[in-house]
Amino acid sequence: MKILITGGSGLLGQFLNLELSKNNNILTLYHSHIGNCNNYNHISIDILNIDLLAPIFRKFRPDIVIHTAAVSNPKLADKLPDNIVYTINVTATGKLAELCSDNNAKLIYTSTDLVYDGSTGKMLDENSKLNPLSLYAYTKLMGEEKIKETFNNYIILRTALMYGFGLNHSANHFTNVYKNLSVGKPVKLFYDQFRSPVALHDAARMISELVKLNLTGETLNFGGNERVSRFKLGEILCEEIGSNKSLLKKISLDEINGFYKVKDVSMNITRLINFGIEPKGIRKLIKEFINYT
Ligand SMILES: NC(=O)c1ccc[n+]([C@@H]2O[C@H](COP(=O)([O-])OP(=O)(O)OC[C@H]3O[C@@H](n4cnc5c(N)ncnc54)[C@H](OP(=O)(O)O)[C@@H]3O)[C@@H](O)[C@H]2O)c1
Repeated sequence: MKILITGGSGLLGQFLNLELSKNNNILTLYHSHIGNCNNYNHISIDILNIDLLAPIFRKFRPDIVIHTAAVSNPKLADKLPDNIVYTINVTATGKLAELCSDNNAKLIYTSTDLVYDGSTGKMLDENSKLNPLSLYAYTKLMGEEKIKETFNNYIILRTALMYGFGLNHSANHFTNVYKNLSVGKPVKLFYDQFRSPVALHDAARMISELVKLNLTGETLNFGGNERVSRFKLGEILCEEIGSNKSLLKKISLDEINGFYKVKDVSMNITRLINFGIEPKGIRKLIKEFINYT
């Protein structure tokens, strides 16, 4: 299959490059960091220049587009002008949906668990109340809506917090926690925010399984199978790397200003599992990526 990956230099994108290139012909797009894209067919593009997407489509003629490029977290989105965030997260997503529709390609879009109302429950299913609190989450939900308005040949993945080690330049909170623990530095972690995190390499593996299925018009929770706080995730990491758990300091969401108070967006992933796509457990995945890097 011919697969076009946007955001190929990102945390997830680089793992998608590795995984999807095994059995497919990929073209991977990046913007300002090349990461591992230089090992594959690649093009640098600023997705703000939306008109550049059509010629890429015409030339490559993808069967599937995996659209991960985004202003990808609330903090970053709040620092940028709203119209830039909107153009990248909403307008570009809508344009990709149009191009997919015109060219008979499927669109797989990585949305976020933060579209849900994080104050009303736990293990949320796909019909749970939506209530994005941040500009980031709001624009990701608008991206979903643009796709649904355009056509039916899509899979929307409401993606959980991703953990694991970023490749090359890409780093995440989890990598920083690991680095600090490894040199005996204490780290503060929320004990009262719950997610069902998914490991980067396992997310890429599951997406590589999803592309083989004949699924369309699906919005799926896409996460791990365990509901944990960041503190609990830190405890498992400590146990696996042999760090002293006393380095972990519990903090509450309420202690931190300027942080969106999303208490619990743990997700029920039964629909995903019913399609035969199943994440591995956290402890096993932590072992895997310690060996992976
Ligand atoms: N990370 C998480 O925990 C998480 C959780 C839920 C959902 N998601 C979603 O999953 C997807 C991937 O997240 P991630 O953490 O892998 O993101 P990331 O590491 O921040 O990567 C973002 C990607 O988007 C590209 N990009 C940003 N602005 C661009 C522009 N103007 N033109 C072209 N490309 C641009 C970046 O390119 P350069 O780096 O080359 O500039 C990079 O490849 C995103 O859609 C995000 O919303 C992430």
